Amino acid sequence: MSVLSFLYSQLFVTPPLPQYDFTGQTFVITGGNTGLGLEAARHLVRLKAARIILGVRSLSRGEEAVRSLNIPPGSCEIEVLLLNLESYDSVKGFAAKVAEHGARIDAVLLNAGKATQDFYLAEGNESTLTVNVMSTFLLLILLLPGLRLSAARYGSIPRISIVASDRHVESNLPEWREKDPFAVLNDANRADMNKRYHVSKLLQILLVRALAECLATQKQEFHVSVNTLTPGLCRSSLIRDLRGLFAIQLAIMILLLARTTEVGSRTLVHAIGQGAESHGKYMNDGKIQEHALSAFVRSPEGKQASEKMWEELMIKLEVHQPNIRDLVRTR
Ligand SMILES: NC(=O)c1ccc[n+]([C@@H]2O[C@H](COP(=O)([O-])OP(=O)(O)OC[C@H]3O[C@@H](n4cnc5c(N)ncnc54)[C@H](OP(=O)(O)O)[C@@H]3O)[C@@H](O)[C@H]2O)c1
Repeated sequence: MSVLSFLYSQLFVTPPLPQYDFTGQTFVITGGNTGLGLEAARHLVRLKAARIILGVRSLSRGEEAVRSLNIPPGSCEIEVLLLNLESYDSVKGFAAKVAEHGARIDAVLLNAGKATQDFYLAEGNESTLTVNVMSTFLLLILLLPGLRLSAARYGSIPRISIVASDRHVESNLPEWREKDPFAVLNDANRADMNKRYHVSKLLQILLVRALAECLATQKQEFHVSVNTLTPGLCRSSLIRDLRGLFAIQLAIMILLLARTTEVGSRTLVHAIGQGAESHGKYMNDGKIQEHALSAFVRSPEGKQASEKMWEELMIKLEVHQPNIRDLVRTR
């Protein structure tokens, strides 16, 4: 996405108010206690979702968020479950609780994410990578069997959307050519933490493209559709941990250009409202817009990078979840 396209989106495009009918549907939202995730939940309640499971780091903040939704009695049922993406045990516990219901899951909104300039490790990786990439994909993969069951049982196509970012254009991930790209990204002496958030968002997009190819051979009755999106620049608490010139520049941009979280959250609902036509695709301004991806992502080199990084992700995750490849594979 060029600077001009970004400015055009921010200044002149207001994604339309979502008008889907989600009657009877169950949704999972990570990072649902605030910002874009909470506003997306508010839309889902309005659009007649039957159940929403919110993954949150603090139950009390989660419950406060639910109260702020003012749900009319007898309408949407909301469940708040603990989820800390800095811990694989927490990710596994959350996935197991979601699966426990054995019930219908129609859509998963992988929205939780962080931006920080501080380098520290969580589960052996730099924490932004753990939260935005490793754990997000671990959770996605752990939820696949339940989604497939739901697809077969209800004849539906479950949807997964990952909230990425248009800022993925800021990196071409030169590390992908290294023998062990994640080892390089996890090296404190080499990490450019001002770019780390952008790298994590590029990785989300590359990995969704690779995953979509793996899932493309699914039998019709087990089909799960996965896409990514950018909400555009929005006012939220995402930048709370940033400092220095970088933070000042961002704060000025937000002041001048940002969407409200409500308007930004419409793009999350549009992404989760799409069917198989969006499989593997990227959405901008609430529409499928592959041309808004960086030239690198769309290039043959980007395709190689996505395949390589998918394999690297599998190698990393199978240490903690030995059957990870089987979970991805079509039944
Ligand atoms: N705002 C923007 O301009 C913008 C632009 C492009 C993409 N995005 C993406 O949109 C998504 C939502 O961001 P937002 O703008 O709504 O920011 P936000 O208000 O900061 O919300 C982020 C959510 O992620 C959760 N989270 C952070 N670290 C977590 C962890 N370790 N485990 C579990 N949950 C965690 C937060 O929980 P706590 O409340 O407990 O911290 C919060 O619920 C993110 O993926 C972000 O990258 C935002």
